[in-house]
Amino acid sequence: MPKIRIAVLASGRGSNLQSIIEESQAGRLDAEIVLVASNKADAGALKRAGEAGIATCAIDHRQFKNREDFDREMVAALHEAKVDLVILAGFMRLLSNVFIEAFPHSIMNIHPSLLPAFPGLDVQKKALEYGARFSGCTVHFVDGGLDTGPIIIQAVVPIHEDDSDESLSARILEQEHRIYPRAIQLFAEDRLRIEGRRVRILNPDRPEDRALINPPLS
Ligand code: GRF
Repeated sequence: MPKIRIAVLASGRGSNLQSIIEESQAGRLDAEIVLVASNKADAGALKRAGEAGIATCAIDHRQFKNREDFDREMVAALHEAKVDLVILAGFMRLLSNVFIEAFPHSIMNIHPSLLPAFPGLDVQKKALEYGARFSGCTVHFVDGGLDTGPIIIQAVVPIHEDDSDESLSARILEQEHRIYPRAIQLFAEDRLRIEGRRVRILNPDRPEDRALINPPLS
């Protein structure tokens, strides 16, 4: 199967990027990371990409007078790299319609809560404060809203009595690193169908995981 070309956009440390690089290097992803882009020149993600020999680009959003102009520059870089799928992994910029319309149904994001609960920022802390018994993470397609797009895959983790923001975040992050590569592989295999708000997975597998992760990992 020919590999799809993906770009990862990240503003921070890049642990999700790292998990995707490792799955790709292990030959478990039918996807090639052709570009890692950031709005922050000092993002850890760019360093990780450089170490893996992946092309990088940093575009400082502060140089642009509005969101659309920044997005046009980013889209130009992604088009230049002939990207099929855009992966947001800790990319701390909201996308305008300029960006979303340039990659219809081809932008994914990962969010550290079980959407639609707790969209936005600091969500592990919010889940703890709310007294939720479970949290988790969600990979979803990106639409014009804040963490509102169609859900592709989720993983659930328990919240323990003695959890701190850090311990819960770490438990969730471990699952992020499992489900994001899986969602990318489902896309690469052309097994995702968006039907309104829902994403149908063609030929779901791995029934043994069903109680925790929907759709199951394989
Ligand atoms: C993750 O928690 C992700 O869910 C959120 O931003 C964080 C990025 O972490 N969108 P990393 O840079 O991938 O380590």
